[in-house]
Amino acid sequence: MPSDKSIFQPDQKLARSAYVSTFQQYEESYKESIEHPENFWGNVAKQFHWETPYDLSNFNSFNFDISKGPISIKWMEGASTNICYNLLDRNIKNGHGDKIAFFWEGNHPDDYSRLTYRKLLEEVCRFANVLKQHGINKGDRVSFYMPMVMELPIAMLACARIGAVHSIVFAGFSSDSLAERMNDCKAKLLITADGAWRGEKLLNLKKICDQALDKAEELGHHVETCIVVSHIKRVTAPKEELVDDFSVDMRDDRDFWWHDEMEDAEPSCYPEWVAAEDPLFMLYTSGSTGKPKGVLHTTGGYLLYASTTFKIVFDYKPNDVYWCTADIGWITGHTYVLYGPLANGATSVMFEGTPFYPDNDRYWAVIDKYKVSQFYTAPTAIRSLMKFGDSPVLKHSLETLKVLGSVGEPINPEAWLWYYKIVGKERCSIVDTFWQTETGGHVITPLPGATPMKPGSASFPFFGVKPMLLDEGGKEIQGEGEGYLVFSQPWPGMMRTVYNDHKRFESTYFSKFPGYYCTGDGARRDADGYLWITGRVDDMLNVSGHLMSTAEVEAVLTEHTRVSEAAVVSRPHPVKGECLYCFITPNQNEVFDKKLVDELKVLVRERIGPFAQPDVIQNAPGLPKTRSGKIMRRVLRKVAVNDRDVGDISTLADEAIVDQLFANRP
Ligand code: WT7
Repeated sequence: MPSDKSIFQPDQKLARSAYVSTFQQYEESYKESIEHPENFWGNVAKQFHWETPYDLSNFNSFNFDISKGPISIKWMEGASTNICYNLLDRNIKNGHGDKIAFFWEGNHPDDYSRLTYRKLLEEVCRFANVLKQHGINKGDRVSFYMPMVMELPIAMLACARIGAVHSIVFAGFSSDSLAERMNDCKAKLLITADGAWRGEKLLNLKKICDQALDKAEELGHHVETCIVVSHIKRVTAPKEELVDDFSVDMRDDRDFWWHDEMEDAEPSCYPEWVAAEDPLFMLYTSGSTGKPKGVLHTTGGYLLYASTTFKIVFDYKPNDVYWCTADIGWITGHTYVLYGPLANGATSVMFEGTPFYPDNDRYWAVIDKYKVSQFYTAPTAIRSLMKFGDSPVLKHSLETLKVLGSVGEPINPEAWLWYYKIVGKERCSIVDTFWQTETGGHVITPLPGATPMKPGSASFPFFGVKPMLLDEGGKEIQGEGEGYLVFSQPWPGMMRTVYNDHKRFESTYFSKFPGYYCTGDGARRDADGYLWITGRVDDMLNVSGHLMSTAEVEAVLTEHTRVSEAAVVSRPHPVKGECLYCFITPNQNEVFDKKLVDELKVLVRERIGPFAQPDVIQNAPGLPKTRSGKIMRRVLRKVAVNDRDVGDISTLADEAIVDQLFANRP
């Protein structure tokens, strides 16, 4: 047991009542979960309904070694179930029908509502019937472009109820990105809202969808139906005048209002029993080659994993109120706003707004309003709130808090300590949860009652997860050291394939080190065995918790007719974690001017989304290339932070370029 000064022990009271209350207990259960996954997960599976039972002797089978045949991961093959039934009907049958599933808190503090498990089921069934009326069957893909309104979880669960596959596109993506994703999965139907407020900004989501539907058409894919939630009229407008100019076009042959469709829909719908390995949803994530990957998750294993990680990592107890601030458009929202909490019959807060509206104490106000006991957010949000000092936090009691979660990127110790001391009053455990869209749920994380915390370390693997560090040659690093973070065996919630592209799944995750799932992250193990995620080892970067590849941004920049070449690197950013620093070589005889810079920023916003907007675009009449033509990115990273200590550049074709780049810094 480590005994360093920079170690924070879990609060005694919290530890005593926690599901896992000592480190020794964690170690024992962990050992069992690795050595006998069928026993460990079989115990979890018992609490759920399986229409066709699972077979413990054939609970889990897999191949991680590409040289032995196709990669495959299967849990509970042969069993059948329905995840919506397990989240709703089962909890209602267990007497929780009147329990609140969601407190909905709107962008404006005057807008809020609540939904019980019983009412949620009724709405889900009605919408499931609407989907069926529009010809949606088992296996069909339904795309979403939605704000954080109750219709979003309702429609997701409606898909799950009839075995349709939801594909949520975060409503901050551009129409191009939405079109590309709808085309890739050949979506039959799109669900959106007329618009949404983000603080005082009014977004016309339907307009973006109209453009995306047209663009999908150009790509050769026709989306038959678009269902639109009328949201703007029912909420408080932070700026009335913006509503006066707000309008949406509805196309007779394609567009339908949610409320019209729901009016006569039957409030019951028999669940479609699906195989444990049938797809539940897909969610796109950036790939290092540019094209987004449709990460596919299946039903049975995901249910086990989402429910167990939620319960244990947040130590969720029946009377707790839990709040995850993530948008459902990201995996965090899928697993820890929707599936994990509902699988446990939990009560959650679902928040539509931003941390800064109407004031920068909104998070803390909401925590007190609903008496939140578990709060889960991202380091970038913590850092942006720290900037306002302690007083917005200290205006609120926050006495109900017990566990504070962090997700999406490494949390720097300074932000960790602020979260721990100012928000958590040194009483709450911090769970720094490392995971990915691909992993489906937490894979490396402290447990709140059991793990002594080190600020900035995600610490130890969750049950069933076996991390290893490998060196460049694929040799395992035992004990202290740093290397590639890989996993040597599957856990129930991991992705099964890239939608429609199993080869890409195999080459992205399983080809670098045969026999292992490769995360793309580096990690260090310290003398106490704690794991510290050191960041991406590929050309991916993480801006405010949004993962993107340098290649995809470069591809957009070079689309511009005045640009000859582009190279993008990550630069540390005090709030966003990382930001985009772009080097642009204009075409011959073209000048590099402010107009070009502005056009490039707009282009990236349009093609990818506003969150991908570069912070810096610099003129680079030449890029630092080796004689073989490879761009030396480490030099560009040095230029981005104005560090002249560039190291060995003797392999560059033209060393003078380096001085020129420093001289050109804006
Ligand atoms: C990448 C995955 C996990 C859901 C949200 C992001 C980074 C995530 C942590 C953490 C250090 C983290 C990794 C990972 N990351 N959580 N606690 N500490 N890094 O999902 O978009 O699939 O991104 O985010 O680099 O690979 P994602």
